[in-house]
Amino acid sequence: MNTVLKHVTLAGLFAMPLGVFADNHRWFDPSMVERGQSLYQTHCVACHQAAGAGVDHWQQRNADGTYPAPPLNGTAHTWHHDLDTLRRQVREGGARLGGSMPAFAGVLSEDEIAAVIAYVQSLWPDEVYATWAKNYPDDAARRITPASTSGVDDNPVTARLKSMLSPGTTIGEPEPTPIDGIYSVRAGPRFLYVDETGRYVFTGELMDIETRQSLTERLMGTIRLEALASFPAEDMVVFPAVGEEKASLRIFTDTTCPYCRRLHREVPELQAAGVTVRYLPFPRNGLEGQGYDEMRSVWCESDRAAAMTEAKSETGYLIGDTDCDAAAAVATGYELGVEIGIGGTPAIILPDGRMIPGYQPYPNLLRALGVVQ
Ligand code: HEC
Repeated sequence: MNTVLKHVTLAGLFAMPLGVFADNHRWFDPSMVERGQSLYQTHCVACHQAAGAGVDHWQQRNADGTYPAPPLNGTAHTWHHDLDTLRRQVREGGARLGGSMPAFAGVLSEDEIAAVIAYVQSLWPDEVYATWAKNYPDDAARRITPASTSGVDDNPVTARLKSMLSPGTTIGEPEPTPIDGIYSVRAGPRFLYVDETGRYVFTGELMDIETRQSLTERLMGTIRLEALASFPAEDMVVFPAVGEEKASLRIFTDTTCPYCRRLHREVPELQAAGVTVRYLPFPRNGLEGQGYDEMRSVWCESDRAAAMTEAKSETGYLIGDTDCDAAAAVATGYELGVEIGIGGTPAIILPDGRMIPGYQPYPNLLRALGVVQ
């Protein structure tokens, strides 16, 4: 089986702009600050003012007995608090201490809270940050070194990982997760979770029980969409929605796989419900054998949709030309599938990048797409 992974460009996902602030001795990195700044502009600036300046006379009560929003830029006492306390203030608001700041739990994710605090701390002058770091050494040590300034090898989180994985495996930048001290790192077609020392790694899925969402699947979704965008639309075999299109699916398929055939028999139901199905080729046995030849032939036909249906029917399909230019799409589809972690067919990709691995009856697909309740 061909398992050579093509390098995926993740520039959009992990790019870390340089020079947002010159000092990288802080626990956060520039990309986090940048993300935090835009969240701050949306959620915090109305009360805490531009660049965390707060309002004048913030120590004097309002007419209703509450206090105005204090400065967050290091001139007030924000730096007296450790990270947990700062995050908690944002998550839970001020009510529990008799204050009036609203709670942001449910509005901002833990990731976003961490980012907005990183932005707030980026506003502190060096001396203020240094005092905070001395008081809370554990917090300050939670440092991520941006690879763009130091190279992936110097990054403590990924240095050992790199030596363990086979050469050529794409390794992404460590990104913070909602669990303190644990980073997600892209390694080839999947994500690993690594502690801040880079010594301990675990594989698997990180779930948020509160939202019932898989955070790993969300990361994978972003990667899948990015990778899928590189596959030309005209190389997909399309079964368009009947009438107005309400949703669409991209499905990695193999004409020889029994569950792909079963799913294909239900495609007319999906079309009738307003769903466009776009097939990408994924010969599950790799770049040889019946599936590979059959699909190359299908891709060479002038009416690929009809040929696809024929190839998946009981009567069978006679393999024709397999060497036309269009046949190259089959290998491209296979490599793309491997790259994004597809292990079998059918692999159904929802519009947000989530994957349904394996056959599902069409009513389930319509529900997953939100086309029916
Ligand atoms: C509606 C006004 C309001 C909004 C919006 C608001 N805050 Fe506050 N914030 C306050 C007030 C008032 C306090 C003082 C404590 C209290 O009354 O709860 C405060 C206190 C804080 C503190 C503790 C400061 C210290 O020195 O102890 C932090 C940190 C903070 N806010 C961050 C944020 C962030 C980050 C956001 C945006 C996600 C935000 N606040 C949005 C009003 C607001």
